[in-house]
Amino acid sequence: MTYYRGWTGRVFIGASLDGFIARPDGAIDWLTDPPADGRCHARITSSAEVAGWETFFPSVDHVAMGRGTYEKVLTFDTWPYEGKRVIVMSTALAANDDRITIARTLDDAVRELARADQVYVDGGKVIQAFLRADLIDEITIGWAPTLIGTGRPLFGLLESDITLSVLASNASAGGMVHATYRVHRPAPQPMLASAETT
Ligand SMILES: NC(=O)c1ccc[n+]([C@@H]2O[C@H](COP(=O)([O-])OP(=O)(O)OC[C@H]3O[C@@H](n4cnc5c(N)ncnc54)[C@H](OP(=O)(O)O)[C@@H]3O)[C@@H](O)[C@H]2O)c1
Repeated sequence: MTYYRGWTGRVFIGASLDGFIARPDGAIDWLTDPPADGRCHARITSSAEVAGWETFFPSVDHVAMGRGTYEKVLTFDTWPYEGKRVIVMSTALAANDDRITIARTLDDAVRELARADQVYVDGGKVIQAFLRADLIDEITIGWAPTLIGTGRPLFGLLESDITLSVLASNASAGGMVHATYRVHRPAPQPMLASAETT
């Protein structure tokens, strides 16, 4: 399925070095509360500086996330998406929160994003679904210098390779390696001769 869209799909996420965004139970302690002695680096090298959250977040107008991420956000003290239109993907979630719009399918989500400009895509399964449908243009990952062995993966199965270019990367004093990638869009497929003649 090819979606025609006028918006840019963007990911901004923290991951363990072995590719997980949360432990199996959803915990992100390894990201938010790293061991004090585990992130100390004497020498920091950098290409172009990666734009941080303070630059990224104000630049998006819509957030598309999965139920897993939404349920995590509900445990926070404050709703962090004030002023953004928030689409939550779920086949099962009850519609009882005025701050969100529920999308039951990817088609629903794309319909709800029709007037978007910059879309922040969040949650492992939703990022994977958007990537498979060619709905992601840019990915910023903060790689934590931690291996957690198991958990909820950032990326998953693909029908074909996706190639990316590195736009910027830097290591922070805290030992996180941030990188922003541009996702290469697949070339448009030529129409089949039989389709042209019918
Ligand atoms: N490290 C970070 O920076 C970071 C960032 C964001 C989130 N997280 C963590 O990651 C965890 C959540 O990630 P996750 O991969 O488990 O889940 P997720 O993508 O946030 O949510 C998965 C759920 O979204 C719904 N969904 C996904 N794709 C769908 C589709 N195509 N159509 C309809 N519904 C769809 C399904 O809900 P239903 O089962 O209801 O159908 C699915 O179970 C949380 O623990 C959160 O704390 C970490």
